[in-house]
Amino acid sequence: MNKPSIYVTRKIPKVGLELLSRYCDITLHKGVEPPDHDKILSNIQGKDGLLCMLTDKIDAEIMKASRELRVISSFSVGVDHIDTIQATKRGIYVTYTPGVLTNATADLAFALMISAARRIPEGDRNVRNNSWIGGWSPNMLLGEEVCGKTLGIIGLGRIGSALAERASGFKMKIIYHNRNRSPSKEKKLNVEYRSLEDLLKESDFISLHVPLTEQTHHLINSQNLKKMKRNAVLVNTARGQIVDENDLADTLEEGRISGAGIDVFSSEPLPRDNRLSKLKNVVLTPHIGSATYHTRNLMAEISASNLIGVLKGEKPLYLFNTEVMKVKSLSSIRMF
Ligand code: DGY
Repeated sequence: MNKPSIYVTRKIPKVGLELLSRYCDITLHKGVEPPDHDKILSNIQGKDGLLCMLTDKIDAEIMKASRELRVISSFSVGVDHIDTIQATKRGIYVTYTPGVLTNATADLAFALMISAARRIPEGDRNVRNNSWIGGWSPNMLLGEEVCGKTLGIIGLGRIGSALAERASGFKMKIIYHNRNRSPSKEKKLNVEYRSLEDLLKESDFISLHVPLTEQTHHLINSQNLKKMKRNAVLVNTARGQIVDENDLADTLEEGRISGAGIDVFSSEPLPRDNRLSKLKNVVLTPHIGSATYHTRNLMAEISASNLIGVLKGEKPLYLFNTEVMKVKSLSSIRMF
């Protein structure tokens, strides 16, 4: 029997590719740059499965291009790059990799908090480019204290909760805002609920952990930035479009908040002329929240198992659009 054919849009860790190759014929995009829309369109034709990245925009046109397409397995926790409503209508299973990147991303969010507060990259630049003058000095590179301060977490899901656990070790007061209040998490994590407005006003650090949706697009705009404290530090490891980058650049330029630590951008890689890269009081990293060997191997294994699971007619480990099961049964998909 022929193996199902799949398109994989980037070289993922070996453990995932080996697993996939046991069950499927793989067309692999080997480039360093992601494939563009046209390339995905031409490669998806006749494929039973797609294993894609968050850099691939998977819209209805792509889904239409393969009548055989049964599963879109994303090598990511966020699925804002996939038109999941269209996928469900078409009976295409969409899977993702939640959970396994929680620790890595929470670690990076905490690292960005400290780096921005304590101006670590600025200090590193000063040492390297000989602008460290006079040795130790009482007023050099003063920053914000982290221990004992108030951390506001917007979105208390897996990663937000993991950040709260880390912050408790720093004796921080932790407040959160979320669509739904969770009394059980409030008790377990020792966190207090606030309206968005109160959280913005009270926090010394604000970290974003919501998915990108119509409701969260530009949630952090000039209006909300104005509510933040002058000493506040904003951290974003979620999605770039949650923050209005121009409004943030204005705010940082005018010193209306202390700083920011940003891992995700509305356009990636960051365009050369982006104003944020010109500012001293912002720490920038290139979307590396989940970039540990451990996590990326797990993401590879899970995204591969998800895809194989659907083609086997089994419920995958992590199905995003669960309602698709009413549109197309798993038993009608089974290919081996
Ligand atoms: C995801 O998987 O959505 C993350 O942004 C990758 O780090």
